[in-house]
Amino acid sequence: PQITYLEANGNSTTVDVPDGWSLMQAATANGIDGILGECGGSCACATCHCYVDDLLASVLPAPSAGELDMLANVAAERRPNSRLSCQIKATAAMNGGTLTLPECQE
Ligand code: FES
Repeated sequence: PQITYLEANGNSTTVDVPDGWSLMQAATANGIDGILGECGGSCACATCHCYVDDLLASVLPAPSAGELDMLANVAAERRPNSRLSCQIKATAAMNGGTLTLPECQE
């Protein structure tokens, strides 16, 4: 799917994310600075925090207990649409979705 990453500094990057990749993986592979992904995607660092748009929210499964635990530790403001991008696996239904990235990750 085509996913747009909107960084806090206003930079917008649209990436063609392979199905099955996490949205964190695609961001780091494309040099998007607003996502760190320090733990490599094992839901243990909260530096891949993002805010999902309505399209993504409508197709995503609810966060796991582990994701909810880590969301309690995000550096930036936690919002109702906060998710960890390493826990979002790309599917075709996400095409056209946008992730807004927080001002800080640590
Ligand atoms: Fe560490 Fe997502 S990359 S929690």
